[in-house]
Amino acid sequence: MQQSADYFDEVQEAGEQWLPASFFDLPSVRVAVQHGAVRDPVLSTEEQVRLESFRSAKRRAEFARGRTLLRRVLAEETGTSPLDVPLISMPGGGLHLDGSSLHFSLTHTGALAAVALSPAGVGIDAERVRPVGPGLLERICGAQELPPSTQLAPLVVWCAKEAVLKSTGHGVQAGLQQVVLEWEAPSDTSAPFMRAAASFRQLTFCVRVRVANGTVWALAVQET
Ligand SMILES: CC(C)(COP(=O)(O)OP(=O)(O)OC[C@H]1O[C@@H](n2cnc3c(N)ncnc32)[C@H](O)[C@@H]1OP(=O)(O)O)[C@@H](O)C(=O)NCCC(=O)NCCS
Repeated sequence: MQQSADYFDEVQEAGEQWLPASFFDLPSVRVAVQHGAVRDPVLSTEEQVRLESFRSAKRRAEFARGRTLLRRVLAEETGTSPLDVPLISMPGGGLHLDGSSLHFSLTHTGALAAVALSPAGVGIDAERVRPVGPGLLERICGAQELPPSTQLAPLVVWCAKEAVLKSTGHGVQAGLQQVVLEWEAPSDTSAPFMRAAASFRQLTFCVRVRVANGTVWALAVQET
């Protein structure tokens, strides 16, 4: 898969790419993205059944894009064919790679899917920038958890917390307010991402959030 120097300057056409490590400044995590229509979708029989259960064509396209990217990336990692990647569905809705200690996370939004790979628990979330209802921020975060930039604060907090809960496999059912964020004051105001430490139960995480190309991206990695 192609490595892009500056993903968002180039991504206009459909295709798969690895984001540069500088995108999130978390060198232990690699992130692959698929933009636009997916060529030759690769889905297991179970995934095919799930795909056909979605009424919306948009949801079907998102699902096919995400799972195909995931299978291709994990096939490259494990030296197998995409269709043979042994994905196991976990009770909370997450996925596990049978027989491997590799951690990964999948997100899709609009015409984008992204997969994060890491040696430690990892969660990724991407949300298109859109208006969100009043009151969301108060429901999911305390005053001391507000991000350094108030622009898009509700989506930024949502994505950061969702990425944390995806990294543990709990999902948002565990309650976004259970994740506590502590943002770092930006040492360089021109830095393209925000950094935070997060905690959930006894676990701690390193979090990055970046707004790019009309999308809020969050990546969370468990500290060991
Ligand atoms: C984790 C979760 C929040 C993802 O929601 P989302 O923002 O709609 O979706 P994303 O595109 O970011 O991520 C989807 C992927 O997350 C992964 N995922 C789902 N549940 C997960 C969990 N508990 N842990 C880790 N990953 C999970 C799956 O791989 C899924 O991909 P799939 O569609 O191919 O199965 C969601 O599935 C969840 O917890 N649902 C609970 C029900 C709920 O309250 N949903 C409200 C969502 S706003």
